[in-house]
Amino acid sequence: MSGGVFISFEGGEGSGKSTQIRKLAALLSRQGREVILTREPGGTPLGEAARSIILDPAFDPDGLTELFLLEASRHDHVESLIRPALDSGAVVLADRFADSSTVYQGRVRGLDENMVRQLNHWATGGLKPHRTLIFDLDPEEGVARALGRNADSGGNDRLDEEPMEFHRMIRRAFLDLAAGEPERFRIVDASGDEDRVFERVLAMLEDLI
Ligand SMILES: Nc1ncnc2c1ncn2[C@@H]1O[C@H](COP(=O)(O)OP(=O)(O)OP(=O)(O)O)[C@@H](O)[C@H]1O
Ligand SMILES: [Mg+2]
Repeated sequence: MSGGVFISFEGGEGSGKSTQIRKLAALLSRQGREVILTREPGGTPLGEAARSIILDPAFDPDGLTELFLLEASRHDHVESLIRPALDSGAVVLADRFADSSTVYQGRVRGLDENMVRQLNHWATGGLKPHRTLIFDLDPEEGVARALGRNADSGGNDRLDEEPMEFHRMIRRAFLDLAAGEPERFRIVDASGDEDRVFERVLAMLEDLI
């Protein structure tokens, strides 16, 4: 593919993706590696503008509209940030990527999963992470963590307001996706304190970074 390493962090709300990705980026930077820490939706100016539309409770787009916003943002993200960074040999860490669309739009929001996978393929030009970590946590705990965080920063986003069954479906869908592609995915037990989880993260990336 190219010189760099591409790792995505996936999983439900409040499972600790953003916390752990920041810890990993900091560690690799201290080691002198070139690190790009990015997120979806987002990662580029266009992507961040799309993110604010997608997360704005003032809008209530139907599933297909939301999917196209995500895929447009993803294409820009891959072409203008991720691919060039990999070509230059960087470690690219993505806080959510295409698997989130397969799970949220394809499995849980009820769009045709095969269509979602095809759009992912078009948007990414077939680029896949070398490894995808699934942060696996009891959704009751994840939502409680996310609500605690949002109380600190003011306001919830749309996903925090979903019923618990929605979060259970998300968890099952990620585990199921991982089972279908075991070479790429690793399941991280996201329970316990941040340092314990970080040890597990490092163990699952040992061969790559
Ligand atoms: N291991 C942990 N134990 C307890 N709290 C944690 C742990 N890891 C992260 N947190 C806290 O839980 C909240 C959610 O964590 P974080 O934002 O990293 O999750 P996330 O997976 O990125 O969530 P989202 O999907 O909403 O972006 C934050 O307030 C964070 O400080
Ligand atoms: Mg996050």
